[in-house]
Amino acid sequence: MRKLVYYIASTLDGFIAGPDGSDPTGPGGFWTPSEDYLRHLIEQYPETLPGPARAALGVTAEGTHFDTVVEGRKSYEVGLAAGVTDAYPHLTHLVFSRTLTESPDPGVELVAGDPVARVRELKRHGGKDIWLVGGGELAGALYGEIDRVIVKLSPLTIGTGIPLFGRAAGFAPNTWGLVDHTVLDSGAAFLTYDRDPATAQSTGK
Ligand SMILES: NC(=O)c1ccc[n+]([C@@H]2O[C@H](COP(=O)([O-])OP(=O)(O)OC[C@H]3O[C@@H](n4cnc5c(N)ncnc54)[C@H](OP(=O)(O)O)[C@@H]3O)[C@@H](O)[C@H]2O)c1
Repeated sequence: MRKLVYYIASTLDGFIAGPDGSDPTGPGGFWTPSEDYLRHLIEQYPETLPGPARAALGVTAEGTHFDTVVEGRKSYEVGLAAGVTDAYPHLTHLVFSRTLTESPDPGVELVAGDPVARVRELKRHGGKDIWLVGGGELAGALYGEIDRVIVKLSPLTIGTGIPLFGRAAGFAPNTWGLVDHTVLDSGAAFLTYDRDPATAQSTGK
């Protein structure tokens, strides 16, 4: 069955964004990805680049990981604020929101219902894995449904911000098995963990 994969950039201290919820990698942001990080991302996860970035970089590769992307309304609005109504036109794109009533783009499906039920339904369909973009609040709501976490770890600490599973996450310890890892010269690392450590095997590079 296809997996729900939380593929997410995190600081060393476990934050996905600063406290104000703006785009930390945008103009004037505090989080500048290293060149080797971007190169690895383009080579290994080209489908996770937003459409405008793919066009600017001349990336046309379909990618091997994901054909569907799900995100929370606040993450979606980061793109909207930059005038991008569908950042992933090359993927099936769902946005969870109980307040947006009309989708700004025909390529984006708004989902007001329970994310867990909808993700379970998506998992039953065939296809590549489902990419959970974030943010923390939606990831917290989907905590029990996440099969794999791919952390794009940056050598950066910020002290406070939006945590990986949001500010409202409950206490629910879970161990994960490392199945892949790539550590880059810049100090950034791509770490892949699966929920079931008993069956996880290291294929790290
Ligand atoms: N580091 C990264 O790779 C990365 C990736 C993505 C985003 N981000 C950052 O994350 C931040 C946004 O994250 P966030 O945690 O504040 O918000 P978020 O998870 O993106 O969005 C929260 C919204 O999603 C909807 N939602 C959440 N749980 C739901 C549920 N159970 N049922 C239905 N709808 C639900 C709600 O929308 P309504 O209020 O409309 O109901 C909620 O307000 C931004 O700063 C963004 O830049 C970082």
